[in-house]
Amino acid sequence: MPLLTTSDGSTTIYSDQYGVTYHSIHGAVTESAHVFINAGLRYKAVVQQDIAILETGFGTGLNAFLTKIEAERRNLNVRYTGLEIQPIQTWEAAELDYAEALLVPEQKGLFLSLHQCAWEAVHELSDNFTFQKCQTPIQEFLAEEKFDIIYFDAFAPQAQPELWTEAVFAHMYASLKPDGVLVTYCAQGAFKRTLKKVGFTVERLEGPPGKREMTRATK
Ligand SMILES: C[S@@+](CC[C@H](N)C(=O)[O-])C[C@H]1O[C@@H](n2cnc3c(N)ncnc32)[C@H](O)[C@@H]1O
Repeated sequence: MPLLTTSDGSTTIYSDQYGVTYHSIHGAVTESAHVFINAGLRYKAVVQQDIAILETGFGTGLNAFLTKIEAERRNLNVRYTGLEIQPIQTWEAAELDYAEALLVPEQKGLFLSLHQCAWEAVHELSDNFTFQKCQTPIQEFLAEEKFDIIYFDAFAPQAQPELWTEAVFAHMYASLKPDGVLVTYCAQGAFKRTLKKVGFTVERLEGPPGKREMTRATK
């Protein structure tokens, strides 16, 4: 898939199939850090140290990598589950070079291990980061344990309307613990109405560069 450089200098990829990029062209790392790390992980880390995260979909692994780095910095214990039905190749991940972009070249091996490790198995990637990736569609994922945070990072509703339905968000709601949060870059009105309909309390937050708003929804 074609590799692009975004406004903050970090890379992303373009999906020919869906006609969209995996991240904002206004900054891939900036968007992931703003939406998922800042509004999700840091928000929860204020009140708890043990945090279970579900990501849909895992894609380039950027959100998982940022989470691992943040967990180390803040001494958090993270259990991370990523769902992905069309994994990228390890050589594509290597070209994205997120360890260099994040100024942690010593973590390059760790980033690649997110891609190289076996699907479905649970991996203790460090003392404070347990990682599992599953080739299960969001629509079919049945959580054995509940999560504190959902990083909802599917392609946009225009590209994949089948993932932004009441049934999917009812399922996301059921997969969260009480007070759990779902964070996403999307702030469309119809989407927020769906979140409210299935029981979420919805907050509008300032968006990353190029987007006025983003959404955090609390169970
Ligand atoms: C916006 S991109 C991923 C961004 C990703 N979080 C990252 O940092 O690279 C959306 C991802 O969802 C995956 N996807 C599409 N349909 C899916 C489904 N039904 N279940 C799980 N993942 C899906 C795509 O293959 C793609 O990797």
